[in-house]
Amino acid sequence: MLFVLALVFVLACALPAAAKDYKVGVAIYQFDDNFMTLYRNELQSYFEELSAAGEDNYNVTIVDGKNDMAEQSNQIDNFITQGMDVIILNLVQTSSADAIIDKIVANEIPVILINREPMGTDGDESYAGILDNATVCYVGADARQSGTFQGEIVAELENHGDINGDGKISYIMIEGDPENIDAQYRTEFSIKALVDAGYEVECLDDQVGNWAQAKGQELCANALSKYGDAVEVVFCNNDAMALGAAAAIQAAGRKVGEDIYLLGVDALAECVEMVNNGEMTGTVLNDHVGQSHAAVDAAIAALNGEELQNYYWVDYVKVTK
Ligand code: BGC
Repeated sequence: MLFVLALVFVLACALPAAAKDYKVGVAIYQFDDNFMTLYRNELQSYFEELSAAGEDNYNVTIVDGKNDMAEQSNQIDNFITQGMDVIILNLVQTSSADAIIDKIVANEIPVILINREPMGTDGDESYAGILDNATVCYVGADARQSGTFQGEIVAELENHGDINGDGKISYIMIEGDPENIDAQYRTEFSIKALVDAGYEVECLDDQVGNWAQAKGQELCANALSKYGDAVEVVFCNNDAMALGAAAAIQAAGRKVGEDIYLLGVDALAECVEMVNNGEMTGTVLNDHVGQSHAAVDAAIAALNGEELQNYYWVDYVKVTK
């Protein structure tokens, strides 16, 4: 009898646990974004990889918020109705974080915020919606670091960005969506790094390019025709806008590395190539692989009933020749 019981026990332990089928809803702020396209594709393929390798199956639905908060809010309502087990959310507007998170939490669905960090009320403190809930977290990179790296790349140049030798670094800034903390911090910290290192700076122009290549090109072209040779450094809050700026720089007959410097953030493959062949001065790796994997890992932890940390950070990396 004992032997039979022991045999049943051993067999039961050897049997695989019942596989679970999970529904994962992913809401992206806008599909038409170079960086978020890389991020979203990696997110999907990592879930597929884990579904193929493990017992559990992740059925992933990814929707395009089309940069429209009302549209994204409807998509979240649909996710709730569809009974998603976890939601990964790239907010269109971080100012709407409270309302959206409240309704997800009220439906007892864990939510992993990605890429667009909601801030506390005084702009610098942690966001209460994350601190208050063990089923809500933010996965991302600290944008201050990316800005600092951009500034440091310029400071480390032989002439420290002062091409004409007048004792100051004259720059133009092309910003992403101004509501986005990544844009705010990159704008602030790139210049702060130069000032902290003891260099004098002069801002010739600071405009909003909303993360978009075409807008980056237009703004850079305008600034170059207005300020000409006085422009020594072009800071772009992301690589998409730097790609546009590179085209404007070429069209104006200027040459990166000789009479102008150009900086971006993201390390899109085409920009890394441009850094290597001298068409861009530098960029900063915004690690979409590390971030998407951390987001998926957090989602799975939540599905397994684990308490989430408030924040999961992934480092930026400086990219120069
Ligand atoms: C990236 C941008 C992207 C934005 C979207 C930023 O972290 O650097 O390229 O457009 O996220 O929110």
